Amino acid sequence: MKILFASAEAYPLAKVGGLGDVAGSLPKALRALGHDVRIALPRYGMIRDVKEDLGPFRVRIGGRDEEARLQTSAIDGVPVYLVDKPELYDRPKVYEYEDDGMRFGFFGKALLDLLPTADFWPDIVHCNDWHSALAPAFLRTAYAADGRYRPIRTVYTIHNLQHQGLFGRDLFDWTGLPAVAWGPEGVEFYDRLNFMKAGIVYADLVNTVSPTYAQEIQTPEYGYGLEGLLRSRASKLSGILNGIDHDVWNPAKDALLARTYTKTTVEKKAEDKKSLQKEGGLAPDRKAPLLGMVSRITGQKGLDILLPALPRILRRGAQVVVLGTGEKQYEEPLAALAESEDGLVAYLKYDEALAHRIYAGSDFFLMPSRFEPCGLGQMISLRYGTVPIVRATGGLADTVVDITRDAKQGNGFVFSDYTPDGLEDATRRAMEFYRAGRGWKGLQRRAMAADLSWKASAEAYTRWYERARGG
Ligand code: ADP
Ligand code: GLC
Repeated sequence: MKILFASAEAYPLAKVGGLGDVAGSLPKALRALGHDVRIALPRYGMIRDVKEDLGPFRVRIGGRDEEARLQTSAIDGVPVYLVDKPELYDRPKVYEYEDDGMRFGFFGKALLDLLPTADFWPDIVHCNDWHSALAPAFLRTAYAADGRYRPIRTVYTIHNLQHQGLFGRDLFDWTGLPAVAWGPEGVEFYDRLNFMKAGIVYADLVNTVSPTYAQEIQTPEYGYGLEGLLRSRASKLSGILNGIDHDVWNPAKDALLARTYTKTTVEKKAEDKKSLQKEGGLAPDRKAPLLGMVSRITGQKGLDILLPALPRILRRGAQVVVLGTGEKQYEEPLAALAESEDGLVAYLKYDEALAHRIYAGSDFFLMPSRFEPCGLGQMISLRYGTVPIVRATGGLADTVVDITRDAKQGNGFVFSDYTPDGLEDATRRAMEFYRAGRGWKGLQRRAMAADLSWKASAEAYTRWYERARGG
């Protein structure tokens, strides 16, 4: 099949979070199955690796013809189309600009308008999250009568329902979508333009990144107001678990580590722990359980329960290393706590290399999320023999099994109550298990043995695309 994979991020060209990992690795896994997959991405300021300029193309939006250029790059052999429109994208960050609505509205239209210049006519346009979600709406409206576009099917993946892309009526008018699209059966949501809703309403099939999250988003607690719509479309909604890129995340070959190791030499991980302790100015105590966290510092990631639980966790003798950036309301108290508590180090920045060192050097990985569509951190940590401590939600519930509940299958520690006590209890159980020593190495090895690669999921995506094509 020919697939155009549209995303606002794709590692290593542009990454903010897990969407970048997925768009940088799923297309590669699909290519390995023989599909002609190509990625489409806006050309941001940090993207320097441009291979070719295929020339200008016209994007009809805002009531006129705008010009953009189509450029190419590649990720591990996967061709990438870059939508070059400097006044919208040539900026240092991917998101968080006042005009994001216009930036990604344009992207949704450009995805279709670039096809003639690319001379690539996909069977499937796969859109991801709100940033590319207008493409299915444009395809069903502006292109409905165009024979070249009619055979194209669109599929839409929800990576995070919290970020829907909500804008005013003026932006809707600017997109040029027909007036009929402004209504409950279209892209309108309480008098605003909702990009995510466009994806859900107009794409042929919709999925999300874990089976549990696909269920959760049909409830008011997780649905952010779209639960009713999602329930009404339940027959075209499914969940496919993400994988991780085994080449990027591989403790046996990871050049960023102090010491590489495998399942059979997992004891060498102690050297990574030692150097992580040294780097953070922590006591060089081999026996102190070291808890790592690499995460956006936001409400989604459980900061509300982590902050009050941390002093208590540290008092039990844990060392904690946190890497992340995000919201001031959480960053500031976290930094203050790191100042006052000896065993806590907080790196408030984005740092790929340090992330690898934390995945390898920690004994445990903390992921106390309030909600988690899939979560890659727990999968990466499993691969590094770093035992995850997670809340049972979304993809965390689908990938981590509590060892105290299932001694044979268990690969981590899981709690359900979204409270500081719930988290503290799970870390207490984890630290007791670690200190008792019995079964610890076995647990690390089991964690490392799991197949978290994209293979099975890429096959599931293939079946999903076939379903969209009516097969
Ligand atoms: P989300 O996409 O919700 O942020 P995921 O667990 O799916 O969560 O993916 C997060 C990805 O981003 C992981 O690859 C993680 O290692 C990476 N990451 C998050 N914060 C940082 C940071 N501050 N520095 C480096 N990598 C980070
Ligand atoms: C989102 C979710 C995360 C998921 C990632 C990739 O950012 O928050 O849970 O792993 O997308 O699908």
